[in-house]
Amino acid sequence: MTSPYDALYRQSVEQPEAFWAEQARLIDWHQAPTQILDASRPPFCRWFVGGQTNLCHNAVDRHLAERGEQPALIAISTETGSERSYTFRELHAEVQRTAAMLLELGVRRGDRVLIYMPMIAEAAFAMLACARIGAIHCVVFGGFASGSLASRIEDAEPKVVVSADAGSRGGKVVPYKPLLDEAIRLSAHKPAAVLLYDRGLAAMELMAGRDHLAGAEGQKHAQARVPCTWLDATDISYTIYTSGTTGRPKGVQRDVGGYAVALAASMQHIFDGRAGETYFSTSDIGWVVGHSYIVYGPLIAGMATIMYEGLPTQGLDRQPDGGIWWRLVEKYKVTVMFSAPTAVRVLKKQDPALLRKYDLSSLRALFLAGEPLDEPTARWISEGLGVPIIDNYWQTESGWPIITLPVGVERRPAKFGSPGIAMYGYKVKIVHESTGEELTAPNEKGVVVIEGPTPPGFMQTVWRDDQRFVDTYWKSIPGQLVYSTFDWGIRDEDGYYYILGRTDDVINVAGHRLGTREIEEAISGHANVAEVAVVGVADALKGQVAMAFVVPRTGNAATDNADAMKLEGEIMKRVADDLGALARPARVRFVPGLPKTRSGKLLRRAIQAVCEQRDPGDLTTLDDPATLQAVRAAVAAG
Ligand code: PRX
Repeated sequence: MTSPYDALYRQSVEQPEAFWAEQARLIDWHQAPTQILDASRPPFCRWFVGGQTNLCHNAVDRHLAERGEQPALIAISTETGSERSYTFRELHAEVQRTAAMLLELGVRRGDRVLIYMPMIAEAAFAMLACARIGAIHCVVFGGFASGSLASRIEDAEPKVVVSADAGSRGGKVVPYKPLLDEAIRLSAHKPAAVLLYDRGLAAMELMAGRDHLAGAEGQKHAQARVPCTWLDATDISYTIYTSGTTGRPKGVQRDVGGYAVALAASMQHIFDGRAGETYFSTSDIGWVVGHSYIVYGPLIAGMATIMYEGLPTQGLDRQPDGGIWWRLVEKYKVTVMFSAPTAVRVLKKQDPALLRKYDLSSLRALFLAGEPLDEPTARWISEGLGVPIIDNYWQTESGWPIITLPVGVERRPAKFGSPGIAMYGYKVKIVHESTGEELTAPNEKGVVVIEGPTPPGFMQTVWRDDQRFVDTYWKSIPGQLVYSTFDWGIRDEDGYYYILGRTDDVINVAGHRLGTREIEEAISGHANVAEVAVVGVADALKGQVAMAFVVPRTGNAATDNADAMKLEGEIMKRVADDLGALARPARVRFVPGLPKTRSGKLLRRAIQAVCEQRDPGDLTTLDDPATLQAVRAAVAAG
């Protein structure tokens, strides 16, 4: 007998237009689409052609009649000890006020607005305000430093940047304004205006003519009425930068209508989130999870969403409190929660009694995404919470889950180590990495690919670079036009997938996706670095950490301890200053040369294997065995 989910899945891949036409009814349209899918120019997909809608209307305005006085956004900061809830009506007013400020600064439909903000309500207001007036937002993670920010400003060419005086982490204030000023200085593109929120955390020097304080501007527009601009479904809603094989980040570009429909459908079929309930995602608006499941997804579904700034181990009184998240689940009757395995591993160090202290009976499921979920972590949290723990596999590129369990449709048993089965709309395959042949037998390892047409919500292209989109994602498997996830995987006899790590140079630190090439570029800028290789190494808490191997240009760094310590410190600071603390390598080790093939290609995988005490595998192409020996010695030296 066909299960409800099997039937849903089959229709989604066999009759995608009929399937998605039905899903499109979950959102409001100003004008209904005339064509569900235009796939005439593969691999590009244009969903809901002719339709007109607006993400902000669907996330906010649409709910005013029925739930205007219900909570929409609950902003909690255990860094500043603040907690504030906005109803849909209040959110509507705040978003319009922000939209009015952007309009006054000259932002128009299609202009980019770069948002570099901590996890405060105003960041969500800014995103929704952009959506409202048809501006394209580019949110940059607040943990990134000036170099990362500069390359994004240069690529996005924003008319306006929205930022704040500072973020805060573990009680430590991180001033944003100096990082932003430096980034604008480094970038060839200069934004016309900067809109700044002053949280009173750090002093700001304002640049006359360019910098505007949101507090003063906002007062002028307190009663602003800014209607939603009806946008074509295929217009661009936002870009979000992500790392890949090269050092240059890619602007993942998403549409308006497809994204709205995809999120609405996922809230129902995957997350089982219902209007009037509360959703709590612990991610950050700087990542795709924050876009889809802090801001847009829950609000489109008519749910209240919690925005949380702070560590999972600190209370509102700013004292240590490993139970803060559970306290919030109880207080706001959270029904759906979304986090990352690393966060759970941090909590695992706390007293398990903290989990039993609160009434968690509202919670139906905890979704974990972004990195592999290890069995001990899954088991610990599942026993502690007594609700299903749902592993969730997807990417910045997809915008919503590719592989998971569709708890909103039916209950399938979870299998430890597997995020689950292919989601509706995704034709997932495992192929041989060099022949491209599909591997249909169970448990054969290959590359996880997706056959087009890709579903609504999936990236449209790389911002301003269609060729890069095609070449990077769709041409890596020989002989066929399929989207590569750049993940290794297997599928078992029941259709459950297992994800076995990246095929490229992307590493995953505490659920954050980083490119080793970007880190290498930051390091090679140091005057005393001749060559560098950065690899990801398994870490019990963070999943992976970056490890750098450096060939120094001069001096005795390879042998002299004092020199080595000094250079290691300088290199780490350089990465933190350029990219942000999260990219800082756990260690920098010095070697006289790097292991390479005879044609000069770096053997990163061999270096990584040595770091993880694994067999480095086939070394027939290794040019000079002494180099690998030196890596071994450097690792052994600690
Ligand atoms: O390698 C996979 C890993 O994270 C990558 C995508 O990261 P990002 O673009 O930041 O998007 C995260 C959205 C949740 C993937 O290519 N990854 C993500 N989820 C999982 C995972 N690896 C194993 N299990 C997962 N559940």
